[in-house]
Amino acid sequence: MPKLFINTMGCQMNVYDSTRMADALKVLGYELTDNQEEADFLIINTCHIREKATDKVFSELGRFGQIKERRQKEGKDTLIALAGCVVQALGDEVLRRYPIVDIAVGPQSYHELPELVTRWLRHKGQRLVAQFSSDAKFDHLPKAQAKGPTAFLAIQEGCDHFCSYCVVPYTRGCEYSRPLEDVRQEAQQLVDTGAVEITLLGQNVDCWHGKDKKGQPSTLAELFYELSKIEGLKRLRYTTSYPTDITKEVVEAHKSLPKLMPYIHLPIQSGSDAILKAMNRHYTVEDYMCVVQKLKEARPDMAISSDFIVGFPGETDKDFEDTLAIVDRVAYAQSFSFKYSARPGTPASLLRDQIPEAIKTERLAILQKRLLQHQKAYNKSYIGKTLPVLLTEKTKKGQWLGYSPYLQNVHVESPDDLYGKIVDLRITDATASSLTGQQ
Ligand code: SAH
Ligand code: SF4
Ligand code: F3S
Repeated sequence: MPKLFINTMGCQMNVYDSTRMADALKVLGYELTDNQEEADFLIINTCHIREKATDKVFSELGRFGQIKERRQKEGKDTLIALAGCVVQALGDEVLRRYPIVDIAVGPQSYHELPELVTRWLRHKGQRLVAQFSSDAKFDHLPKAQAKGPTAFLAIQEGCDHFCSYCVVPYTRGCEYSRPLEDVRQEAQQLVDTGAVEITLLGQNVDCWHGKDKKGQPSTLAELFYELSKIEGLKRLRYTTSYPTDITKEVVEAHKSLPKLMPYIHLPIQSGSDAILKAMNRHYTVEDYMCVVQKLKEARPDMAISSDFIVGFPGETDKDFEDTLAIVDRVAYAQSFSFKYSARPGTPASLLRDQIPEAIKTERLAILQKRLLQHQKAYNKSYIGKTLPVLLTEKTKKGQWLGYSPYLQNVHVESPDDLYGKIVDLRITDATASSLTGQQ
């Protein structure tokens, strides 16, 4: 069996895409390996969101080049492919910039991989690029297979919001929603092959409006009710939500659907209305707080997480203080924070008042410290409580690791085989990054 290695960079959508690429390449006999040294086929699934992400591609390709050279001396061929958002952003330029790459596929065309690989094997040396494809890729992919107890399922792709800093509308294109029946079938396949928790993915998952059997657009809340009927599916999650796209039906669903987990990723980006406006985010801090309040009314235990960008062009000390203030107000359970990175082709990259790197670094450190304090306090508030934990892996230290309903990592020592089980654990200890539980 030829071996396939995929290095996945970027967001959960890329993680999902990598599993689907592996599913597609199974048709040609490729088997996934986590040892890149033995791989006949090496893929990097790239991310274009920040400059750093794109820089990583060069260093990883350098490593792939060494592997290819060593294997060549052993008389073995190695195929190197680049997939993901960098390919979409660079277009044909991608082959000139990365001479070592044999095949490049954008996020909308990876279903063409088996055909591209077959062509490459037939005419070695011919370098191939596939970008936006007119075919709907989901119609061409084989059945999905769960790789463990938790699975991602992409229901929506692309973005029409055009935040002034972001490349996603250019790399993933405009919004597309998969039909309800497609999503339901894939969820069933994932459950049939071992998934007990599914996370629905979309760049703006709340905008999902896939057609039902009658060809009428349905809503995310309706999808939650539909998927909740799947026996064997124990937990349902969704990400990422654009704050003001959350409907009252989605809020209601949190009240009435026990399978829908009490956790929401609700990126605010900044706590300053002036910066939010410059970012072309269509809400104010108070609009955001209104959404938070409604969610908390529906589920008082709702855990909220967010993304933050510091050092957006024009961000003053006062704007940054406003961000710290919102962090204290919401007391986030988890968060991701980044230094603003000017991306080619985005309106914000042309703004004059770019913030010096040193200030960005300083603000990020202050923000992350504050976020961690809240995360730690949040986790510690569970000490003494009992939580149902889905165990997903055994760590190198022999402990079981899993997730609480609030997406906290939970460790437990147990002689039992807990893989894929949801077990009630009493929380005995907590740090900013994880909880310790006992059976
Ligand atoms: N659709 C999601 C986010 C997708 S990108 C949303 O609207 O919230 C993931 C995160 O990367 C964003 O939330 C943002 O915080 C960050 N990000 C996007 N572009 C960035 C840039 N140019 N510089 C720094 N961070 C960025
Ligand atoms: Fe990017 Fe904004 Fe779309 Fe999120 S909503 S993907 S940040 S453009
Ligand atoms: Fe990166 Fe593309 Fe995701 S740019 S964050 S991999 S949508």
